[in-house]
Amino acid sequence: MSIVLGDLNRDVERFRLTLADDVVMVETLQSLTGALDERPDEDLVIIGPDVQLDVASDVAERYRLERPSLGVILLRRRIEVQSMAEALRSGIREVVPADDAEALLQACTRSLAVSRQLRHLEARSGDAGHGRVVLVFGAKGGCGKTTLATNLAAGLASLDSGRVCLVDLNLEFGDVAIAMQVEPTRTISDALGMQGGLDRDGVRSMVIPVSDRLDVMLAPTQPADAEFVTAGLIDEVLSLLAEMYDYVVIDSPPAFNDGVLKCFDMADTYVLLTALDMLALKNFKVTLDTLDALGYPRARWRVVLNRYDSHVGLTAEDIEHVIGLPIQVRLPSSKDVPASINKGRPLVQDNPKHPFSREVLALAQTEATMSDRASAADTLPSARRRHRLFSPRV
Ligand SMILES: Nc1ncnc2c1ncn2[C@@H]1O[C@H](COP(=O)(O)OP(=O)(O)OP(=O)(O)O)[C@@H](O)[C@H]1O
Ligand SMILES: [Mg+2]
Repeated sequence: MSIVLGDLNRDVERFRLTLADDVVMVETLQSLTGALDERPDEDLVIIGPDVQLDVASDVAERYRLERPSLGVILLRRRIEVQSMAEALRSGIREVVPADDAEALLQACTRSLAVSRQLRHLEARSGDAGHGRVVLVFGAKGGCGKTTLATNLAAGLASLDSGRVCLVDLNLEFGDVAIAMQVEPTRTISDALGMQGGLDRDGVRSMVIPVSDRLDVMLAPTQPADAEFVTAGLIDEVLSLLAEMYDYVVIDSPPAFNDGVLKCFDMADTYVLLTALDMLALKNFKVTLDTLDALGYPRARWRVVLNRYDSHVGLTAEDIEHVIGLPIQVRLPSSKDVPASINKGRPLVQDNPKHPFSREVLALAQTEATMSDRASAADTLPSARRRHRLFSPRV
């Protein structure tokens, strides 16, 4: 199918014959715009010999930026070097003699091949910068965020579905370095001098490789640096990491501060962690209500109960009853978990068959299969609304 801008009475039959009926004829620029809007997959516009050159150039110029895959072919009764040069400068792909049906067909074939390639490139560049950002959050200290974030990152890396960066944004008391036994020779503090001009090389200079597919970006070794790692810097760092890695897993502090809210803004998945005790449950309920109030879509929530099998007088069902939502992941309690942290190797890595590891790997698998970003309906409210709404402290 192609769209022809030209004289309906004079040209329609000729084009139908040449292009085997596969033609929509339009006579005005307005109807051309309408026809293109209706057909987002259309990749070819043919401009008839009676349309003025500057009109044709305007069409090509406009769509060259708006819709680069669209090819414009111009028909002329006489082909003059100067008008041809002007046409090509505006982005018209080919200028063809008006009476040469064979030349027109060949030009159409060439233009459609170029369009196919451009669409392919567009699709690929659309994928870039869309690594999946997974935030691990729990408002209660010690509920297992670092344990889960380190194991989830190692689990994603073991799935062979891409490169992973684990970022420790528990800026004051980050302990990913210890949990993964990594010497903190580089940390996010190295970004402080680069704020506003951070680039991929800068980010590369801040991460530490842990395995083939897993890097970490550690929290500052000096807690005093934390206040300088602003939400703006976190935005810069995460945007670049999402371009460079297939998965970015964030470990976070047990607090709702500007940096954490920035992470919620940027993450595709919120792994929301709680444990089986009343204080953790109270904070969890406040967390979920706050996320609802701030408009963070429930489609991104993964409700995780850590140490679900601890016998402490509260059950998983009690939690579900209080929060009014099903628990999606139940992590068992095991002494092997602290033992693995003391060894500095995530349990998922050392013992993938362990009941704890199996649950984490299933969560990793879910993330890996959700290759698309959140759906169009899954949008966030404006920053203004969020700040107006944001009041509870947990
Ligand atoms: N499923 C589990 N079984 C046994 N021990 C666990 C489990 N999950 C976490 N732990 C232990 O609980 C302690 C706290 O875990 P972790 O450091 O991951 O919590 P956190 O939420 O990151 O804490 P913080 O808020 O201080 O950053 C650790 O000693 C860890 O080994
Ligand atoms: Mg922690």
